[in-house]
Amino acid sequence: MPTYALPRLSTRALAMKASEIRELLKLVSRPSMTSFAGGIPDPALFNVGLFQDAYRQTFAGPSIAREALQYSTTEGYLPLRQWIAGRMAGMGVACAPDNILITGGSQQGLDLIGKLVIDAGDTVATAQPTYLGALQAFSAYQPTFEALDAPRAACPAKLIYLVPDFANPTGETMSLKARHAALAQADAMGALIVEDAAYSALRYDGQDLPTIAALDQARTGSIESTRTLYCGTFSKTLSPGMRVGWICGPAALIRPLVLLKQGADLHTATINQIIIHHAAVDSFDAQVTRIRSVYRTRRDAMLAALQRYAPEGVHWTRPEGGMFVWVTLPRHIDAGDLLKQALRADIAFVPGSAFFPDGSGKNTMRLSFSLCDEAQIEGGIYKLCELVGQVARRVEMVVGA
Ligand SMILES: Cc1ncc(COP(=O)(O)O)c(C=O)c1O
Repeated sequence: MPTYALPRLSTRALAMKASEIRELLKLVSRPSMTSFAGGIPDPALFNVGLFQDAYRQTFAGPSIAREALQYSTTEGYLPLRQWIAGRMAGMGVACAPDNILITGGSQQGLDLIGKLVIDAGDTVATAQPTYLGALQAFSAYQPTFEALDAPRAACPAKLIYLVPDFANPTGETMSLKARHAALAQADAMGALIVEDAAYSALRYDGQDLPTIAALDQARTGSIESTRTLYCGTFSKTLSPGMRVGWICGPAALIRPLVLLKQGADLHTATINQIIIHHAAVDSFDAQVTRIRSVYRTRRDAMLAALQRYAPEGVHWTRPEGGMFVWVTLPRHIDAGDLLKQALRADIAFVPGSAFFPDGSGKNTMRLSFSLCDEAQIEGGIYKLCELVGQVARRVEMVVGA
């Protein structure tokens, strides 16, 4: 048998670490498991009939069917970009289809933006904790990560990454003042802002706040003079499996992004764009209204259960939308160790340290309420809190001894 020496991997590839979340998700498919781990939509809420209709209609006419099966432009399906431009205008971002690039989910948007602006050693500023997928996407371009609120002794950031609404993993929303402050900070450093709006449509109470892209445009007068790239997605509303998202920003940045995407995958699957366009035109608002009401009930169930069962010394966020509650445990409890015990009790969550570039935050965890009904949430939080209480008493005995 011949033996093959594998090529030496690039330093970029060698530096990549397997995602704790994705590895964990492989374990949580047991039917008995109550999973607060995956931050994914409940598949029971997908509007299957809507997609069946969209496919039927697309394949009913040979001309649109042939278009759907063909290569298409890198920028994306024009009617979809027009629909998105209309929605962006409704949010105070006046733009044209040329300001929009369709991406393979917003995750591809993050990767392309990383490729566009990050050179090895550049500084990327993020909230800490922040979305693990953004850390992974940007890490491939070998930046240094810095906390947004870090004293600015180090290099000015080239890119500021923000999830202003119902962030993953904390569920927190940036105030209007914080949004203005982020723009001022970006101005001072000459940085690009990446506004990740993955969960923005999922507000359960409180008032919508202006997007950073809209605030940027309001002061500069035109999208062409803004410093914000807005990343949107249909994943949390219509379907993540379709892999359709977008970047909206000044054409001077969209044009080089188009070239980078061309090199990556030529274009997002034509048929998926046509189907998503069909579904969006037909039922986007109705679908959002429907899923908001289900997720709101689940969010309420999780907050109520935490209120009822959480032992002393445990703190948590109260999100106005999205899919996540962020829990801070007493200082001596390691959420990674807790997870091993929780899995034996058929409860899953994500230890919070996965969301810190430096692996800190050992006593934190992310709980997602998107996949469980109210009874599962009540039962799961009860068991988890019992476990936290037991571990806290054990740790107290050791620390106190
Ligand atoms: C904050 C955030 N941004 C982006 C994404 C990527 O979503 P997609 O690529 O499916 O649009 C996710 C997915 O979980 C997310 O939580």
